[in-house]
Amino acid sequence: HGTSTINDQGHLQIGGVDTVQLAERFGTPLYIVDEQLVRQRAQQFVRAFSETDLKFQVAYASKAFSVVAMCVLAEQENLSLDVVSDGELYTALQAGFPVERIHFHGNNKTVSELDMALQANIGCFVVDNFLELDLLHERAQLQGKVANILLRISPGVEVHTHEYISTGQEDSKFGFDLGNGTAATAVATALQYDNLQLLGVHSHIGSQIFEVEGFKLAVEKVATFAVNMREQHQITFPVINMGGGFGIRYTAEDSPLAIEKYVTAIAGAVKEKFSEADYPMPEVWIEPGRSMVGDAGTTLYTVGSTKTIPGIRKYVAVDGGMTDNPRPALYQAKYEAILANRANDAVEEVVSIAGKCCESGDMLIWDLSLPEVKQGDLLAVFSTGAYNYAMASNYNRIRRPAVVFVKDGEADLVVARESLEQIVVNDLVPARFQKTTL
Ligand code: LLP
Repeated sequence: HGTSTINDQGHLQIGGVDTVQLAERFGTPLYIVDEQLVRQRAQQFVRAFSETDLKFQVAYASKAFSVVAMCVLAEQENLSLDVVSDGELYTALQAGFPVERIHFHGNNKTVSELDMALQANIGCFVVDNFLELDLLHERAQLQGKVANILLRISPGVEVHTHEYISTGQEDSKFGFDLGNGTAATAVATALQYDNLQLLGVHSHIGSQIFEVEGFKLAVEKVATFAVNMREQHQITFPVINMGGGFGIRYTAEDSPLAIEKYVTAIAGAVKEKFSEADYPMPEVWIEPGRSMVGDAGTTLYTVGSTKTIPGIRKYVAVDGGMTDNPRPALYQAKYEAILANRANDAVEEVVSIAGKCCESGDMLIWDLSLPEVKQGDLLAVFSTGAYNYAMASNYNRIRRPAVVFVKDGEADLVVARESLEQIVVNDLVPARFQKTTL
């Protein structure tokens, strides 16, 4: 993975930093991000697009991992930014991210979120539904502004992925349906609103996708729709957004394509379909989240208790679990891991990695081959950069881990470990609870 190596002491090293030292310095559980690998991924997307002679924007889908330092990095790599809540928008603004490259997603943006984004003059709203069309128009009018919008359409493309994370099929909570004329009505509505500037349409077909066919099909549907709208309204879309969803490798079972393959397929389909229709070539936007940060992340845990059930299984418990990585419990997601402090040791046993939460479903990895595991060993779980810190919780009032960026032998904290004080910071005791105790 990326800049991961094993050093002379047999320790896993990432970005030139010994992970055993990282554990000593920052404690565990610890999210480690290989900064160079993230930058490399960003550059792969940008370079691949640059070679297509299309105008483009690569928007990092910050939902995968939204922290201030990551937004700064995204700006440095010339990315745009996709946000889906006031919290993600606030994070981007705190990072000083260029507002004109912020795109706001979400199927139920609140009035206060719309106001905040309008106030900030963000570059584009990806409008999901009719309520939002009306509200955004109204709020923009109140602020005396014209908001750029894309309409999110549901293209009805099914992709082979986990059921919970496929969003492009007909029966989806997202977007205006293409098949039944709803999307066409949305265009007609948007065109009537003076305070909305329709840039084009958006389509996202799913996540962790390993093939290009779904993207090509989505481009075809978007192009056909664009051509229809040109006929009906004499308008052309200057922008189309093909979403994210590019798959990464978690285990040997996964076979993602190279980033360049996805980009080339999308760009190729756009060029083909739009020139076929003699349509002014639109600017193409994409929104990779997982593929930008996923395989750059590693979670480091300390091994604690073990339980052996003779003839059945050995459970090895670590000091984190579903609170820092809910994906195995939510999606039966699979991960690979090694002992970071004894990375060269031969495999001796098959164990199952348990978290420390009070529920049986809190299992991180089933049947993992490792050297004989002892209390105090460090377990490194790979490909935890996307949707891990982002989906971490305080279940069992467990504190969220720290996040460090490592690069060229240096390690920098980008998120501090939560404190016990922070655990109760929002807790209040009703005044009347105290009467009886006086
Ligand atoms: N654009 C839109 C509109 C999206 O809904 C998503 C992800 C993305 C872009 C980025 O997709 P990516 O490139 O990361 O696949 N929590 C789940 C993933 C949910 C994805 C939601 N939308 C997981 O842990 O697998």
